[in-house]
Amino acid sequence: MDTLHFLISLFLFSCFLSLVLPFSPPQTHLPKQCLDDQRAPLLQLQHHLYYAPNFTFSSKFDLWDVNTDCCSWEGVTCDAYGHVVGIDLSYKNLSGSFHSIFDLHRLQHLNLAGNNFNTTVFVWVHISFLSKLILDGNAISYLPPNFLVNSSRLVSLSLSACNLNGQFPTGILLLPKIQSIDISSNDQLMGQLPEFPVNNALLSLSLHDTNFSGKLPHSIGNLKFLTNLELYYCNFFGPIPSSIANLSHLVNFDLSSNKLSGSIHSSLFTLPLLKTLYLGENQLVGKIDEFPNASSSSIERLYIGNNYLTGLIPKSILQLPSLERLYIEGNSFSTMKLDMFVQLNNLRTLWLNNISLLIESDNRSLTFPQLESLRVRSCNLTEFPGFINRQDKLVDLDLSNNHIHGVVPNWLWKSSLSRVDLSFNMIDFPKQLPLNDANFSFPMLTELNLGSCNISAFPEFIKTQDKLVVLDLSNNHIHGVVPNWLWKSSL
Ligand SMILES: *[C@@H]1O[C@H](CO)[C@@H](O)[C@H](O)[C@H]1NC(C)=O
Ligand SMILES: *[C@@H]1O[C@H](CO)[C@@H](O)[C@H](O)[C@H]1NC(C)=O
Ligand SMILES: *[C@@H]1O[C@H](CO)[C@@H](O)[C@H](O)[C@H]1NC(C)=O
Ligand SMILES: *[C@@H]1O[C@H](CO)[C@@H](O)[C@H](O)[C@H]1NC(C)=O
Ligand SMILES: *[C@@H]1O[C@H](CO)[C@@H](O)[C@H](O)[C@H]1NC(C)=O
Ligand SMILES: *[C@@H]1O[C@H](CO)[C@@H](O)[C@H](O)[C@H]1NC(C)=O
Ligand SMILES: *[C@@H]1O[C@H](CO)[C@@H](O)[C@H](O)[C@H]1NC(C)=O
Ligand SMILES: *[C@@H]1O[C@H](CO)[C@@H](O)[C@H](O)[C@H]1NC(C)=O
Ligand SMILES: *[C@@H]1O[C@H](CO)[C@@H](O)[C@H](O)[C@H]1NC(C)=O
Ligand SMILES: *[C@@H]1O[C@H](CO)[C@@H](O)[C@H](O)[C@H]1NC(C)=O
Ligand SMILES: *[C@@H]1O[C@H](CO)[C@@H](O)[C@H](O)[C@H]1NC(C)=O
Ligand SMILES: *[C@@H]1O[C@H](CO)[C@@H](O)[C@H](O)[C@H]1NC(C)=O
Repeated sequence: MDTLHFLISLFLFSCFLSLVLPFSPPQTHLPKQCLDDQRAPLLQLQHHLYYAPNFTFSSKFDLWDVNTDCCSWEGVTCDAYGHVVGIDLSYKNLSGSFHSIFDLHRLQHLNLAGNNFNTTVFVWVHISFLSKLILDGNAISYLPPNFLVNSSRLVSLSLSACNLNGQFPTGILLLPKIQSIDISSNDQLMGQLPEFPVNNALLSLSLHDTNFSGKLPHSIGNLKFLTNLELYYCNFFGPIPSSIANLSHLVNFDLSSNKLSGSIHSSLFTLPLLKTLYLGENQLVGKIDEFPNASSSSIERLYIGNNYLTGLIPKSILQLPSLERLYIEGNSFSTMKLDMFVQLNNLRTLWLNNISLLIESDNRSLTFPQLESLRVRSCNLTEFPGFINRQDKLVDLDLSNNHIHGVVPNWLWKSSLSRVDLSFNMIDFPKQLPLNDANFSFPMLTELNLGSCNISAFPEFIKTQDKLVVLDLSNNHIHGVVPNWLWKSSL
């Protein structure tokens, strides 16, 4: 799910930027000439920075031409009066000391993400005016309890992947103007969610891949402007508060991979703008009730897999008009028929592993026009499902650990396939594949898992597979010498 999370974060981040960025310096026609008291700290800064792409090499940092107006320097933004209000030195592999920045008293935006600074930032409390602070990817480690405590103008804070540990100062989550907080990917950072007051401005809260824990407070329902809530890969437990159904601006909601218990209240599905609802890999139980207005929902991605959910999957879910990715695997739902999903015309991903599934004898109407990923591992299937023949966009197919017998049919090899897992089935290949038939185009695979099958000879089609990265033929009945053509250079 990591790639998935990443792509979603990327998508939301770009949406989010367009919401958060409208701070521009005052638009006037006065010349903005750098003031002396602004130029001096910048020169100090340049003096103390060096370029350090790795730990074995470093060189002097000479980004700025001292003979020019400092307001024109790369990464420096001034207001109309020549005060430095923004510094963006992100992704430059810089190291050294940046303390002279604290002498720029009008600084509002500071972006030092993607450098190799190794320091604590307790001194930040001295900047007045600071509204946006981005330090992702530096080794900061420790935040003192009073970090940013008086930053009443702070709007946006990003400290992702800063190797933070210890306790996160809760007060930051309650700063009066704060709209965006990203402290994700600091897996040793501990913290709890506070009681959120009614008047708050939070739009985005990203705490994933941290060691935040505790229960989700009912007052989370007070974050009424929230569009993005990413709390996956943390240690939250207890029920999902019903008050979340009040967050009517929510677009991305991800609580997967925690220890949440209780049931999934179906009002979550009625949030009008919601596109991503991820609750998988928790300890959620019970039946999901039907919900109204499924046809006006915007939900595109739904992950409720790997919980202890029971009962039938609600018909309302099968009517979500925009649903593209559905992950319900690893639950104790009652037996489902694959036909149930056929209304979902936009479905690209369908994961049903370890779900009691009936695929009825081949019905020509059973087709998912957009399907790219089908995973039906451990579903007690006894034959290759015929509808796969009509899935011309299928890239990823997992039929492993079923009770499929016999020879793999030629029609299974859709030319779009890249990753195929047929392991743990009693299957073999025909002696010859019609590889020279113009109507038969065998896919170029990157991953092929044929472990623990009943395969009696090295499959000859592997000769042409020049993109294979992963090949598993373990635990079969193959005898004799390993042919040279099996050693693909891509493996
Ligand atoms: C920073 O360092 C990384 C890894 O050492 C390198 O891939 C990247 O190109 C460098 N970026 C700059 C701007 O020097
Ligand atoms: C460190 O960076 C220098 C200059 O870019 C490069 O020559 C050297 O190979 C790099 N060393 C490592 C271990 O990446
Ligand atoms: C940061 O600096 C401290 C003390 O100088 C050092 O112990 C630590 O290893 C450094 N961390 C990194 C990631 O370089
Ligand atoms: C925050 O402001 C209060 C009241 O002005 C002050 O007493 C306190 O020292 C400040 N704390 C920090 C860390 O600057
Ligand atoms: C995570 O937090 C718990 C306490 O809530 C603590 O026992 C555990 O050691 C922490 N793990 C890490 C990796 O910091
Ligand atoms: C939603 O908000 C309203 C008013 O703000 C409140 O009365 C109601 O209890 C909230 N619903 C839930 C489920 O918290
Ligand atoms: C269903 O949607 C309609 C129009 O979008 C709205 O008027 C109605 O209140 C919704 N019903 C429920 C139960 O949410
Ligand atoms: C399938 O799910 C059951 C519980 O529903 C669980 O006991 C079993 O370990 C799962 N099997 C696999 C292969 O994941
Ligand atoms: C085939 O599937 C479609 C859609 O699920 C259904 O409407 C139709 O009755 C099925 N036909 C047969 C013969 O089962
Ligand atoms: C598969 O069949 C076995 C044996 O009948 C049963 O125990 C298991 O629950 C079934 N698995 C699923 C996912 O239905
Ligand atoms: C290939 O397909 C076309 C159209 O379906 C058919 O007319 C032709 O006979 C096929 N060729 C072979 C060798 O099967
Ligand atoms: C395994 O393959 C052998 C031939 O190689 C065949 O005789 C046997 O029936 C197959 N076993 C199963 C369970 O299909």
